[in-house]
Amino acid sequence: MKKKLITSALPYIHGIPHLGNIASSVLPADIYSRFCRLRGERVLFICGSDSHGTMFEIKAKEKGTTPEKIVYKNHEKVKEIFKKFNLSFDYYGITDSETNKKFTHQIFNKLDENGYINEKEVEIAYCPNCDLFLSDRFIEGTCPYCKGLARGDQCDDCGKLLEIKEIIEPYCVVCRGKIEFRKTKHLFLDLPKFESWLKGFVEKSKGWSTLAKSETKGFLKQGLKERSVTRDSKWGFEVPKEGYENKVFYVWVDAPIGYISFTDEWCKENNENLEKWWKSDDVELIQFMGKDNIIFHSIIFPAMLKGSGEKWKFVDRLIASGWLRTKDIKFSKSRSEGLTTEKALKNHPAYYWRYILTALYPENTDSVFSMDFFKEKINNELADIIGNFVHRVISFSYSNYKEIPKVDKERPKELKETDKIFEDITKNFENCSFREALKNIVHYAKISNAYFNNKEPWHKSEEEKKEICFFSGNLVKNLAIMLYPIMPEFSEQVLEFLNLNKEKVKWNDAKKFDFSGNINKSKPLVKKIE
Ligand code: MF3
Ligand code: ZN
Repeated sequence: MKKKLITSALPYIHGIPHLGNIASSVLPADIYSRFCRLRGERVLFICGSDSHGTMFEIKAKEKGTTPEKIVYKNHEKVKEIFKKFNLSFDYYGITDSETNKKFTHQIFNKLDENGYINEKEVEIAYCPNCDLFLSDRFIEGTCPYCKGLARGDQCDDCGKLLEIKEIIEPYCVVCRGKIEFRKTKHLFLDLPKFESWLKGFVEKSKGWSTLAKSETKGFLKQGLKERSVTRDSKWGFEVPKEGYENKVFYVWVDAPIGYISFTDEWCKENNENLEKWWKSDDVELIQFMGKDNIIFHSIIFPAMLKGSGEKWKFVDRLIASGWLRTKDIKFSKSRSEGLTTEKALKNHPAYYWRYILTALYPENTDSVFSMDFFKEKINNELADIIGNFVHRVISFSYSNYKEIPKVDKERPKELKETDKIFEDITKNFENCSFREALKNIVHYAKISNAYFNNKEPWHKSEEEKKEICFFSGNLVKNLAIMLYPIMPEFSEQVLEFLNLNKEKVKWNDAKKFDFSGNINKSKPLVKKIE
C-alpha cells in the first residue's frame, strides 16, 4: 500500500475562513485523512495559510496597518479555529515562510533556465490614489454594450465578457477614484508548451472527482494561454531577476509550492526526507479543494513542476467540490456579520458542524445550507437516530449488567444487511463520497434502532435480553468507528463509554460482532436544537 500525502487547499487568511471554506476543502481532506489512518495507512496531511495576494494590501490600507500584521495575526486565529474543528493536520504552515521562498525561487529559476518563462510588455490598470496596480476584480465602470455595470472582465447586466480597456470610465473599487493604464513588463509561464503533455497527464489520471475532470478537460479544450507569474506589488516574494526589483510573484505561484515547503518543514521537525514524500513513486498525492481552485492544481501547478525538470510528484487524485450556498443566513469571512466560524463554534459543538457540513458536502453540485435544514438534520438524525440509540443501548446494558455481555449466537436475520452497508460505507469513503457515506451510516443506525426497539429487551427473558444487549452493543461500537472520520470527538466519547481505546480500534473492526466487556455509564451526547 502506498503512503498517502493528503493536502487541503490553503485558505486565504485576509479574513477568517467561513463554513463554506471548511466544507469544501479542509473538512473533506480531514475526513479522508482520518479514514485512511483508521485503516492503518501511513498518512501525511498538510495544509497552511495562503498569505500573499492583493487582497492583503487592500485590507491593510483599509485598516491602516500592514499586510504582514494582518497575516500573522489571522494565521494564529485560523490555527485556533481549525483546532476547535478537530482538523488533524500533521503540519499547518504559512506560505510567507523562508522555506517557501527558497522553493519558489528554486522552481522559478529552473523554469527560466529551461526556457519556460517569457517576458512581455503589458498595460495594466493602476489607481494613483491608492498607489495600487489593480487586478480585474477591483475595476468597475460602464459596459460599452449595454451601459450597465461592468465588473472586471464581465458585465453584471448583460453578462458579456469584456476587456478591461473596453470599459467606459473605469474606476477603482477601493476608493472609487479614476484609474490609469500603465505600460510595464511582466513574466509569463509558457503554458502552451505543456499542452500535449498535460493532455496525456489528464487523460491518464484516475480517481479524480467528476467536477475536477470535467473542468480540467474543458479548460484544455479552449487552448492554453501564457499566464503571468509576476505582479506589481510590494507584498509577496521578490522575483530573482534583473528588472523585476519592484515586483513580486503572483500569489498562485508560491501558494501551491507551499505544499512542498510545508512538507519540507515537517520533515525537518520529524527527521524525515522530503524526497521520500515528493519524489517517490511510493506515495499517492491526493488534493482537496473547491471548484475555483481546480485548474491551478490540475494544469498550472503540474506544468510548473514538469517544467522545472526536477522529479516532483504530480497530483494523483484531485478531489474538487462545488459550493455550499446559504439560504436564510450568510457565512461571513469578516469578523462581525453573518454566521462566522467563531459564532458557529460558540453556539454548537464542532461535531454538529462537521455532521451538517458532511451531510451537505457539495460533491458534484452546489448544496444549500439553511438554519432549518441544520436543525432538522441535527434533531431528527444525529439526536433521534444516532445519539438516542447509543445512549439507550449503553444505559440499558449498564443498568442491567455493567457490561456488554458475551453471547455466542448467530447474528439475527434483522442484522444480516449490516455487512453490505459496511462495504458501501467503505467504498464511499474511498471514493470521497462523504455525503453518501453518511447517508449509509444513518441507514445503519436506523436498522440498529429498529432492532433494539422491536426486540423490546425490557420485556424479555434474561437470555434474550443478554443477546439483544450483545448485538446492540456491537452495533454501537460499529457506528462509533464508522462515524469517527466525520465526528472524531463524538466517536471517542462513545468508545470511552464502551471502555475501548481509540488508538487500538481499526476500521475493519466496524464489521465485527465480537465485542463484549465492562462498560461505563453513558450520558446523552446530542442536545436538540430549540
Ligand atoms: N487560497 C486559495 C483559495 O482560498 C487556495 C490556494 S491553494 C494552493 O482559493 F494551492 F495555492 F495552495
Ligand atoms: Zn483606488
